[in-house]
Amino acid sequence: MFWPFMGGALDDTVPSLGKPGWQNPPDFDFHLLVCSGPRCHVRDGASLSHMMKAECAEAGIAARCLTTTTGCMFPCNRGPMVAVYPQGDWFHLPDRAAVRRFVREVLCEGRALPEFHFHTARLARSGA
Ligand code: FES
Repeated sequence: MFWPFMGGALDDTVPSLGKPGWQNPPDFDFHLLVCSGPRCHVRDGASLSHMMKAECAEAGIAARCLTTTTGCMFPCNRGPMVAVYPQGDWFHLPDRAAVRRFVREVLCEGRALPEFHFHTARLARSGA
């Protein structure tokens, strides 16, 4: 099959998917990258994205969060896991109670959650 964007400008293909909202990314404060790679998946990582969205909605911050499922992000032994940007902090969230605490304490209150935090990205560590 020939993809329409291979031979011409991307502008030639719009509006290929219909909704105007699918043209630009939403405005958000937190990008939540939820791993759905194979090793997180066997630890019920698939539920983490749903729990995250539900907890964000319950806390009233759903519009401030863009939740994206990803492939393997490498620290499989820490799964199920989420990385939050632009903060650059990575968390192991093993159950619904941990997800709730993450949403309430980290996202809503800007607090640390050392019991579940295991990594800070280099860019965030450097303060850039
Ligand atoms: S499968 Fe999730 S970090 Fe590898």
